[in-house]
Amino acid sequence: MLKSIQIADPYFPDNEQEILTRQFREILNGKLSMGKYVEEFENKFASYHQAQFGIAFPSCTSALEAALKVLGVNAGDEILVPVQTFYATGAAVRLAGAKITFVEIEPGTFSIDPIDALSKITPKTKGAIVVHFGGVISPNFPSFVEEMHNRGLFVIEDDAHAHGATIGLRKAGSIGDIGCFSFYPTKIMTTGEGGMAICNNRNIARRLRSIQNRGLDLSAPVESYIELGRNNRFPEISAAMGLSQLRCLDDFLKIRRQVASIYDEIIQTLGIGYSISVKKEGDPSYWRYAVVLNKKIDRERLADDLKNENIMIDWAYFPPLHLQPFFLSDQSTQSGMLPVSEDIMSRHICLPVNSRMSIDDAERVALCLKQHIYKYM
Ligand SMILES: Cc1ncc(COP(=O)(O)O)c(C=O)c1O
Repeated sequence: MLKSIQIADPYFPDNEQEILTRQFREILNGKLSMGKYVEEFENKFASYHQAQFGIAFPSCTSALEAALKVLGVNAGDEILVPVQTFYATGAAVRLAGAKITFVEIEPGTFSIDPIDALSKITPKTKGAIVVHFGGVISPNFPSFVEEMHNRGLFVIEDDAHAHGATIGLRKAGSIGDIGCFSFYPTKIMTTGEGGMAICNNRNIARRLRSIQNRGLDLSAPVESYIELGRNNRFPEISAAMGLSQLRCLDDFLKIRRQVASIYDEIIQTLGIGYSISVKKEGDPSYWRYAVVLNKKIDRERLADDLKNENIMIDWAYFPPLHLQPFFLSDQSTQSGMLPVSEDIMSRHICLPVNSRMSIDDAERVALCLKQHIYKYM
């Protein structure tokens, strides 16, 4: 049986496991939460992404919720959100008390469609959350941030897929007002569970730090709380894992980009659709490699055939955000509201990319795709 090629496959190389085992012993006999490992992880992760401040959270969802709160979101406000995203992006908006304005995606990058987004701004709009799907940052993103700032609106980056992704010389998370990352095991780097908010504004960072600690007054001489808040602190063991993954991140990105360039070639040769990409303008992180298939191709059958070859593909995300059962009832959304996104999301696939893959694995995926795809055209 050939090796199974997974959609996600977390990786801690042997030498890193040895370092971590030593560090875990030290942590188990010392400080367990919010100690020197958390501080180092926050600083190094933020500076890797060209940000001055990093504040660790238990998840990306909690980081997004905190970011919305810090940027002044209240009940009744509206937040622009593209529908090609995980449920958590929308849930964070509702947990912060605001309503979601569902926005179309750009077909070439799966990022927010800036024209649709700007046309949906109302007096109640406070800002947008932009998702860099698959770690692809749209070349239109920096100018979208500028347009939003000119209107007095904020932009939060949902960087759950975008560790180390770039556009021009800029890194994910440092372009909008706050960048929120996930360290869930399917992500490019993992701490088991975990998240991080990064930013370049000292006041925003202080508010995020307060919210990390249940609304603690950071300048008070005694422990006192100035707002209602949750426990959003971070364990030392997770931070040590995060530092380990950060040491590996450049290697992880290198193999992911090599896998992607093999997929680029086969997708162009087969003429079965197009891959989302920004080759000339930046370097995606390739959390997944998304391909929009031509209309005639049956992705369910293709997935079954590739599964028989021990190659896993999927289609993150389906249904689109606005068609998740919760939002159908919560915001009375309906199918047909966002025709471009609904069409694209019904016929895209994600080829497997993970940091344990080799060039040979990627070539095997490309070959199997070539062998099977013609059956469905
Ligand atoms: C785009 C996106 N946003 C947010 C999240 C939520 O991340 P977490 O599970 O760390 O809360 C995920 C995780 O799957 C995601 O893919």
